[in-house]
Amino acid sequence: MWGPEGLDEVEAELLGPPEDLKGKDVLEIGAGAAQCSRWLAVQGARPIALDLSHRQLQHALRIGGTFPLVCADAGALPFADASFDLACSAYGALPFVADPVLVLREVRRVLRPGGRFVFSVTHPIRWAFPDEPGPEGLSVSSSYFDRTPYVEQYIENGVGRAVYVEHHRTVGDRVREVVAAGFRLVDLVEPEWPAWNSSEWGGWSPLRGNLIPGTAIFVCVRD
Ligand SMILES: C[S@@+](CC[C@H](N)C(=O)[O-])C[C@H]1O[C@@H](n2cnc3c(N)ncnc32)[C@H](O)[C@@H]1O
Repeated sequence: MWGPEGLDEVEAELLGPPEDLKGKDVLEIGAGAAQCSRWLAVQGARPIALDLSHRQLQHALRIGGTFPLVCADAGALPFADASFDLACSAYGALPFVADPVLVLREVRRVLRPGGRFVFSVTHPIRWAFPDEPGPEGLSVSSSYFDRTPYVEQYIENGVGRAVYVEHHRTVGDRVREVVAAGFRLVDLVEPEWPAWNSSEWGGWSPLRGNLIPGTAIFVCVRD
């Protein structure tokens, strides 16, 4: 699943036709509980699910799967050059790092020539709107161009410690970062909210989804 709209890889085929996934080495970045890797394994691919969070990987382990789980930072991938045919990331790592080019360069390094990296992030336009599913989420409340990160802190004895950080990039920033890392951008998919999806989750809802995009999916090739 590429995002809350519900666009899945069976429909999108952004990694290629499902029958071509068989036998492919695939790296999932920011895998969380490794849902994507689990699906890839069923297609006959050889996924490795990577996440910074040990806790998330414990969930992946509990749910199960026969593929490796790797606890590491996407900015310092513990793999040799040209180890993978494909890489994917559904909202993993890239929105949460201050230096996305570092991550993109690392992913490019571990891909084989011709390999593809597909990643989804919150659509940058959402930054300008309140993260609310109702009508209040439809009015611009801050600048699209303000790159100040969103930070949640845990305060102990008057000292704050960042526990959640999200970094905003404009669409142009993301395109430039992909190019700076040496990838060729072959598509930028903005899934439309489908009629069957009536769920509300966080700031995602049919109301907003029908009016403004919520997810941006970048399809990048390592030539
Ligand atoms: C929004 S979750 C997405 C999880 C999963 N891909 C999904 O579709 O449900 C983002 C994940 O990225 C991971 N993450 C954040 N920064 C990372 C980093 N620098 N390296 C690797 N993983 C990271 C988080 O631990 C978290 O599991």
